[in-house]
Amino acid sequence: MKATAAAHANIALVKYWGKRDEARLLPEAASLSVALDRLRTTTTVELGDFAADSFTLDSRDEDPSRARALLDAAGIRRRARIESRNEFPTAAGLASSASGFAALALAACAAAGLRKTAEELSALARLGSGSAARSVPGGWAVWENESARQVFPPSHWDLRFCVAICASGPKQVGSRDGMRISRETSPYHAAFIEQCRRDLPAALHLLSARDLPELGALAERNALRMHADALAADPPLLYWEPATVACLHALRALRASGVAAWPTIDAGPHVVAICAPEHAGAVVERLRPIPGVADVLVCAPAGGAHLLP
Ligand code: DP6
Repeated sequence: MKATAAAHANIALVKYWGKRDEARLLPEAASLSVALDRLRTTTTVELGDFAADSFTLDSRDEDPSRARALLDAAGIRRRARIESRNEFPTAAGLASSASGFAALALAACAAAGLRKTAEELSALARLGSGSAARSVPGGWAVWENESARQVFPPSHWDLRFCVAICASGPKQVGSRDGMRISRETSPYHAAFIEQCRRDLPAALHLLSARDLPELGALAERNALRMHADALAADPPLLYWEPATVACLHALRALRASGVAAWPTIDAGPHVVAICAPEHAGAVVERLRPIPGVADVLVCAPAGGAHLLP
């Protein structure tokens, strides 16, 4: 009646930013991501006759309603005590619902003694957060419909993802509301979705060929276009901090000096620089001193959600 699982957060190279079905959390366009080894969450689920569900994240009480929706969908009726721990600095705004819900889906089903395929677990994790569907298979993953699938294992390509933690200001609009507002009000939203439909096959081709300059440039364009979509929403969604912009310029300057690294940015201020392992040191050296950058975490591709003893 108790189980613990771990899963890694992921960063998308072709972003998910809009739902075609809000209730079922189905995306408007397919997305491509890679799981990151140092962004790991472990979740313990205990099922029992508790008075109510409870959910703590790094020992703080959280609303268990999204977790309950996931448990209900799995057919788990018993009350759950859920304890989730992020092994990365959440205080810096790096909290990840993706790793959390992926670990929750696996731990909850194991605690209930339910045998589920990876595909079923991915579909369950999706009901907590869309991007969590991709953290279940891990590695390089594509998500288009009910569940995500791994298209290449983490060992396919030994890249580095340098996560520059850019000081987070007042609480931003979360991804859920941000993508809804963009879809409903941004004149650029439909164009972004069309762009993602073109970017995905191109990105998969570049990934299979391990073409870093072209894939890096595609990931940068895709991220900036997602932010252009969000910036054009009403009210406008500005996720960037001064340090975010400084990192973008710094990576441009680094590329001009021969250090091949490209940025991507999710719905927040942090910049993730994609580079070869031999360039990670130079990237950290350049981004770390930027005012407002609290730290730079160097990550490598990771695998999928797994049970812990
Ligand atoms: C910008 O998966 O957090 O990180 O499905 O509403 O829970 P919900 O949203 P979420 O959105 C992730 C958005 C993104 C891009 C991405 O990961 O593809």
